[in-house]
Amino acid sequence: MSLVIKDLRVSIDEKPILKGLNLEVGLGEVHAIMGPNGSGKSTLAYALAGHPKYEVEDGEVWMDDVNLLELTPDERAKMGLFLAFQYPTAIPGISMANFLRTAVNAVKGEKNGDGKNKGIPITEFRKLMTEKMNLLKIDKEFARRYLNEGFSGGEKKRAEILQMALLEPKYAILDETDSGLDIDALKVVSEGVNALTGPNRSFIVITHYQRILNYVKPDFVHILYNGQIIESGGPELALRLEQEGYDNLIKEKEMEAA
Ligand SMILES: Nc1ncnc2c1ncn2[C@@H]1O[C@H](COP(=O)(O)OP(=O)(O)OP(=O)(O)O)[C@@H](O)[C@H]1O
Ligand SMILES: [Mg+2]
Repeated sequence: MSLVIKDLRVSIDEKPILKGLNLEVGLGEVHAIMGPNGSGKSTLAYALAGHPKYEVEDGEVWMDDVNLLELTPDERAKMGLFLAFQYPTAIPGISMANFLRTAVNAVKGEKNGDGKNKGIPITEFRKLMTEKMNLLKIDKEFARRYLNEGFSGGEKKRAEILQMALLEPKYAILDETDSGLDIDALKVVSEGVNALTGPNRSFIVITHYQRILNYVKPDFVHILYNGQIIESGGPELALRLEQEGYDNLIKEKEMEAA
C-alpha cells in the first residue's frame, strides 16, 4: 500500500510549476516536504487533491493501485486522501460540529439506493466526535463555535486536525505556513499528527522550517525545488538545512546536473 507519484508535471495558467516530480509514500510512513517559497509545495498538495486550477500535464499518481488522477476530488477524499489547507476559510454561521458532521457524511456516509447520502446517525457522530476530541485533548466548548470565525491561528489548526481525525484518512497532506504558527499552534499540529499516526495512515507534512520536525518525527525528508524533488533523506537532512539554508544544497545539485 502506497501513494506513488511518477514524473508529475503540473501547470497553473499554462505556467509549468511541477516539472517531473517523483515521490513514493508507503502506508504508515511520515514524510516531510521542505523547500523555498514558490518551489511548488502547495501546488503538489492541490494537484493531488484535484483542484481544477492545477492542470496535470503529465505523469501518474497511484494510491494503493488506484489511478488517482482519474478520480474527482470527492472520490479522492472517499478513497482516503485528506488535504489540510494552508489558508483555511471562515464559514460564519456554521458550527464546528455541523461542519464536521457534513464533512464526515460527505466522505464516509453510506449511499442509499437512490444515490442520496444517508449519513451517519447523529448519536453515532456525537460519540465519534467526543472520542476524537478526547484523543486530541480538545475542549468540548470548541465544537459549538462557528467554523473559523474569529479563530486564532492555533484554533484553526485545531479545527483542521479534528476534521482529519474524524475523516480517518489513509493519506493526509498538511500544508503548513509554519511562519504563521506560534509555538502552541505548532504543538497542536504536531501532537495531532502524532496521536493519529499508525500503520494504516501516512502523512505528508509540508513545512518551511525544521522546527515542526522537532515534534513530528518524519521517516523521510524531501527537498522540493523548482518543481522537482532534488534530495531525499532522513531527519538529518532537515537539520542540515536548518544550519546551512537551501543555497548550498541547490548549488550542489546544479553542479551535479551540469
Ligand atoms: N493561482 C496561481 N496563479 C498563478 N501562479 C501561481 C498560482 N498559484 C501558485 N502560483 C505560482 O506557482 C509557483 C509555486 O507556488 P506554490 O504555492 O506551489 O509554492 P510553495 O512551495 O507552496 O510556496 P510557499 O512556501 O510560499 O507556500 C509560484 O511561483 C507561484 O507564484
Ligand atoms: Mg505553499
